[in-house]
Amino acid sequence: MDKKVTVIGAGNVGATAAQRLAEKQLCDVVLVDIVEGVPQGKALDLVEAAAIEKHDSQLTGTNGYDDTADSDIVIITAGIPRKPGMSRDDLISTNAGIVRNVTQEVASRSPEAIIIIVSNPLDAMCHVAYDTCGFPKQRVIGMAGVLDSARFRAFISMELNVSVENTHAFVLGGHGDTMVPLPRYSTVAGIPITELLAKDRIDALVDRTRNGGAEIVGLLKTGSAYYAPASAAVEMAESILKDKKKILPCAAYLQGEYGIQDLFIGVPVKLGAAGAEEIIEITLTEEEQQALKKSADSVQELKDLLKTLK
Ligand code: NAI
Ligand code: 2OP
Repeated sequence: MDKKVTVIGAGNVGATAAQRLAEKQLCDVVLVDIVEGVPQGKALDLVEAAAIEKHDSQLTGTNGYDDTADSDIVIITAGIPRKPGMSRDDLISTNAGIVRNVTQEVASRSPEAIIIIVSNPLDAMCHVAYDTCGFPKQRVIGMAGVLDSARFRAFISMELNVSVENTHAFVLGGHGDTMVPLPRYSTVAGIPITELLAKDRIDALVDRTRNGGAEIVGLLKTGSAYYAPASAAVEMAESILKDKKKILPCAAYLQGEYGIQDLFIGVPVKLGAAGAEEIIEITLTEEEQQALKKSADSVQELKDLLKTLK
């Protein structure tokens, strides 16, 4: 393959992302983890599946960083996931140290890479990576909105008994309880769901989306979601690797857009070969703007908390 993606963290999200990247034949994959044997074992297992899955992507598992050199994309999933009773924000102190460390390692070896952050708390971890790598803002992007929107789409399709392929949804804001699902911009076959569903049903779907991560944590009990998160990170990687220029909700560094300054938060972003090529500013109602501001305020609090952890 002429493209190379490094996935840091060979746990649930990382290993599943590696599998999807390889099976879609998007790139060669380097899987890195701190635990000896785990990335090597998972990469070898995926290599052995390749004959059956019919792909020629190379997979390498390692505890070091030499094999990551000159990656086109680095997906950072390293860290601890949440357990029942924990919020994403409870992970901040442990994961900030991990994300800082792994970002240093990859940025020095892949100075032209685009970094996709997955580790939680997502928006705060984007700040850690951005401050550490010194890359332009277009090359540090957080994965959350694609996942949250996919959850909203799943719930819309279940509610209306329509193909999920027919649905489109937008969830903006931080990846936390204050996220901002936008029913007005969420459609089935181009028809806004506000014309298809009563307000109380939409409110219920919005609530379920906001609690989508916690719902899975409550069921799994030992960790958090990973199939949909891996799919979401790979959709972003694919748009970049193929320069597809998809507009996807991603955490991007805002400098005045939506009235938000110097903060990573989820907004519609055009993803292409250069990374976050454009931030799309859509018109929001007063209520939607207030909700986005509230979400930005909670991300700002985490950003401020990071300063006290250094
Ligand atoms: P996991 O525990 O299955 O995997 C994490 C992996 O990171 C482990 O294999 C661990 O050994 C590795 N790791 C820890 N420190 C490391 C280091 N210094 N260098 C390299 N590897 C290291 O967790 P899972 O489920 O894969 O989740 C990973 C992270 O992604 C968590 O923080 C989770 O909250 C977050 N997440 C974020 C989502 C989002 O929407 N942004 C969605 C799902 C998960
Ligand atoms: C999720 O939303 C835990 O952030 C992760 O599933």
